[in-house]
Amino acid sequence: MKVIWKILIGVTGVLVVVILGGLIYLNTAFPDMGPPPEVSIEGTPEQIARGAYLANHVAVCMDCHSERDWTKFAGPPKAGTWGKGGDIFDENVGLPGMIYSRNITPTGLGDWTDGEVYRAITTGVRKNGEPLFPIMPYPAYGHMDPRDVKAIIAYLRTLEPQAGEYPDHELNFPLNLIVRTIPKPAEPMIRPNPSDVVAYGEYMMKIAGCTDCHTPVEKGTPIPGMFLAGGTEYRLPGIGIIRSSNLTPDKMTGLGNWTEEMFVEKFKSMATEEALNIPVEKGAFNTIMPWGMYGGMEESDLRAMYAYLKTIKPIPNQVVKYTSAAALN
Ligand code: HEC
Ligand code: HEC
Repeated sequence: MKVIWKILIGVTGVLVVVILGGLIYLNTAFPDMGPPPEVSIEGTPEQIARGAYLANHVAVCMDCHSERDWTKFAGPPKAGTWGKGGDIFDENVGLPGMIYSRNITPTGLGDWTDGEVYRAITTGVRKNGEPLFPIMPYPAYGHMDPRDVKAIIAYLRTLEPQAGEYPDHELNFPLNLIVRTIPKPAEPMIRPNPSDVVAYGEYMMKIAGCTDCHTPVEKGTPIPGMFLAGGTEYRLPGIGIIRSSNLTPDKMTGLGNWTEEMFVEKFKSMATEEALNIPVEKGAFNTIMPWGMYGGMEESDLRAMYAYLKTIKPIPNQVVKYTSAAALN
């Protein structure tokens, strides 16, 4: 046998061992978020009310963890499905795999300790130690003030139990391995005093997930210099592609010409009984921005977000909001 072949076989063998070793290491050592924290949750009426507000109007947990009615504009959650889960994210929306949003009512989380729920929300690790795919916005929730996380957990415990059991996520190679490395230790912020309007607005935008949808990413990392400049594409089956708006104060392409009143009014007008029931024909423009839920935000919170948005760098970026499915064919 030629020397070169011997060398090649040797090298290949070493490579196989290294790769196998690496895979086993990834599978057993990650995610490594340690045991769930010890947390005590009093469940006072104030705490539950705060949690309900955050889960329904700010961090919008109920947006993904309820059944949504896509025959209506912005897909409002269907009454009586709060926390039930079951939404599917798969190849239809451009994801290499199959991920179910999960049941977070006491039916789903009844046997989880508060610490286990806390760890899942803030670091993306399930009760069984397995990682969550970051459609569940735990990288953002990791910044939440512990008081707010606890308030949400207190509220989840009061949800009406709902039937609904779904298979674990299935991700294609190599995402099934990459996902194990995504959970990171939480970096909680202290919720700023609302009188510190800009800092408070920044905090609210972070935990509301605005930044995630409105900052374009490439291979999972935010594109430098494009903070909140919009253009992230969302593929909606049968509807087409919609793109998030430029929220920077650029006058031509962003929110530069929006007054505070316009900003507040845009959200508030989307949460009226009428706005929550706008029928949308099959194939017509619809949006995944959960307008109806955010519309229930306190006016002062919306004003704080506006104040914060005024302070960020204007970035010219013209976004085409919608390309219809018909135009894509
Ligand atoms: C943008 C959609 C989205 C939002 C918003 C969202 N989640 Fe999730 N969540 C998911 C998906 C999808 C999963 C399942 C991920 C997976 O299986 O990898 C999940 C998983 C979970 C789990 C793990 C449950 C289990 O059985 O493993 C918990 C707990 C949870 N979410 C709670 C919350 C809470 C609390 C909020 C609000 C603070 C929230 N989620 C907001 C999409 C979302
Ligand atoms: C799930 C992704 C997603 C999240 C989360 C999200 N947005 Fe959006 N947003 C979009 C998309 C897509 C559009 C464009 C379609 C539309 O107008 O609904 C949009 C549009 C907007 C517009 C309209 C701009 C215009 O020119 O008409 C504003 C303002 C806005 N978002 C602000 C916010 C704020 C503030 C938050 C957080 C409280 C937020 N968004 C969270 C996806 C998102």
